[in-house]
Amino acid sequence: MSQDFLHVSALDRIAWLHTGQAYIPDGEHVWRVWCEYAIVLVARLPEACLPESGNIAGSLVMFRTHTDEDFLHKIMVHPDMRGRRIGTQLMQTALRNTARSVLLTVDPENAAAVQLYQKFGFQIRRRIDGYYRPQEDRFLMAFEPEPA
Ligand SMILES: CC(C)(COP(=O)(O)OP(=O)(O)OC[C@H]1O[C@@H](n2cnc3c(N)ncnc32)[C@H](O)[C@@H]1OP(=O)(O)O)[C@@H](O)C(=O)NCCC(=O)NCCS
Repeated sequence: MSQDFLHVSALDRIAWLHTGQAYIPDGEHVWRVWCEYAIVLVARLPEACLPESGNIAGSLVMFRTHTDEDFLHKIMVHPDMRGRRIGTQLMQTALRNTARSVLLTVDPENAAAVQLYQKFGFQIRRRIDGYYRPQEDRFLMAFEPEPA
């Protein structure tokens, strides 16, 4: 996985261009660390045919936290590959074996992401205005696994 970090990081830089928010992508160094120590899933194509991200069509990063809830930091699919259920497959894999609650935050205006998360059972716990900067509001959403 650690060898993928430059392609995942490149995907992160292009995944948010439609939002006009240049500060969303994370840096290459932290992707290097996450690819080795966090839960990073990738959707891999047989060939490196995608602009910027080579053979990486999508990725998801999730962390174990110091609380009793995991945190899904980010899911992204290459702009040329959206609407083909790659996001669905990444979410299914991430949640398949989780026994812990999972938290995430999402821009309330990001309808595609909010719908994807709701489809997997995430519920809006609360809205936090100015979560990052004054204009960057977020829903805090939570997924509760089925009791064992
Ligand atoms: C959100 C994102 C990951 C979805 O990936 P995807 O592979 O295109 O999604 P899928 O094809 O698996 O679709 C899964 C579900 O997402 C939702 N969805 C996807 N695209 C949508 C759109 N344009 N409008 C509304 N809902 C949408 C739907 O609920 C869909 O389920 P359905 O087809 O049964 O209706 C992708 O659009 C993306 O990378 N967006 C930019 C990055 C981002 O916003 N990430 C999420 C915040 S961290």
